[in-house]
Amino acid sequence: MALWGSRFEKDSDPLFRKFNDSLPYDWRLVQEDIEGSIAWAQALEKADVLSAAERRQIESALTEIATLAAETPQSAGDSSLEDVHTWVEAQLIERLGDVGKKLHTGRSRNDQVATDLRLWTRRALSDRQREIHDVQDALLGLAARHECAVLPGYTHLQHAQPILFSHWCLAYFEMLQRDRDRFADADRRTACCPLGSGALAGTAYPIDREALARALRFDRPTSNSLDAVSDRDFVVETLSTSALCGIHLSRLAEDLIFYAGSEVGFVELDDSTTTGSSMMPQKKNPDALELVRGKTGRLFGSLTALCVTLKGLPLSYNKDLQEDKAPLFDAMDTLSMCLKIVTLVLDRLRICEDVSKKAAAQGYTNATDLADYLVAKDVPFREAHDQVGQLVRIAIERDESLEELPMSVLTRIAPKIEKDAHVQLTVDASLNKRNTLGGTAPAQVSQAMKVAHRRLARNRDRLSAAAVTVRWELPGSLLC
Ligand code: ARG
Repeated sequence: MALWGSRFEKDSDPLFRKFNDSLPYDWRLVQEDIEGSIAWAQALEKADVLSAAERRQIESALTEIATLAAETPQSAGDSSLEDVHTWVEAQLIERLGDVGKKLHTGRSRNDQVATDLRLWTRRALSDRQREIHDVQDALLGLAARHECAVLPGYTHLQHAQPILFSHWCLAYFEMLQRDRDRFADADRRTACCPLGSGALAGTAYPIDREALARALRFDRPTSNSLDAVSDRDFVVETLSTSALCGIHLSRLAEDLIFYAGSEVGFVELDDSTTTGSSMMPQKKNPDALELVRGKTGRLFGSLTALCVTLKGLPLSYNKDLQEDKAPLFDAMDTLSMCLKIVTLVLDRLRICEDVSKKAAAQGYTNATDLADYLVAKDVPFREAHDQVGQLVRIAIERDESLEELPMSVLTRIAPKIEKDAHVQLTVDASLNKRNTLGGTAPAQVSQAMKVAHRRLARNRDRLSAAAVTVRWELPGSLLC
């Protein structure tokens, strides 16, 4: 019989039960549910609802159940119970009888599931930060292995100006740093403990909610019971940050797919992260990166699904909220895989430095430098832009680069050009000139790399401090 069965004359229809039951997927909250239950038993003891002996019995039975759940996860699969909370309670009652039946005093599955989900989300937030850290580390490693590699920088997918390959790596480092910061920030609002909010109106027992929050390593208890049991904005924040992170990863993937393309060839992906074709023997396809690009759509789907579920939902708890878990779990699994795969691809990526350097000099990427040269000779920039534009047109007609144009042609259009112009038109000169903060000059990039390494070290310190906060221990260390 269901926990609530005695009020009903008839059993639930099997089809409805299948529709209603969440155990097949909320099983993933089992450890969090047990941690919350142990903390609740302690709070009940302090409130004189349980004796010390009863609390100890409950705690040790819950510890046993945690072991069972970790070692034989199929035990829940065989069960026909409604959800993970029901499963844990049924296990407890099976072991302790009447004492087990006391645990749910003053508690509702509504504050219980909100607590479990916040505990689970906090772990996921810190795991994603760790995985982002690994991608950032891989980007810095790749940049360091190819310190002198040059790429044509693009705007509108047209050759624009030469850039250092390491500058490209640092661009993604920055995006991921913001994602990491957003995950850390989301944790600040997730770190509130709903337990003690009851079904919706608060609990009727004298629970010390501050102590309960501390016991579960939350920063503070939630402040309003209606809000606590019915809001899921911490999940929305987690999903929106994941979607943004997916956007960044999909752009990185797209860049590398393009760089590895047959007409381009700036990079070569390792065999271990590519696939072949069942028909065309010569193919080496960037499937890993294409899947990263493609799976970003699922992250948006999860975010949209939850936003639509929450929109217009009346206070307080409604069963619609059970639909929060599938998108959260799917998004976390998807993003985790994408981050790990990107790390793997970057760790094994080879840059074809000769090809990319050659390309960096093509497509008149030094046209701005010639205009800047004229500016230094006192030609107003608009005028210089105009003269170089004409020279580019002539060079295209003659199928030559700007530096290949004869002096007579150059001076006919731009009279201030002298012989010294040529040294300013090389790729190296172009790079070296962009030596202001955030620019691609080797001196700037090497400074930026140092700053990035320092930030990564700071992130690492924060992550290990957070691990102490978030990863508490079950009695007997049962976390799996
Ligand atoms: N499985 C439910 C959920 O995920 C647990 C809460 C059930 N509460 C209730 N009043 N039916 O939301």
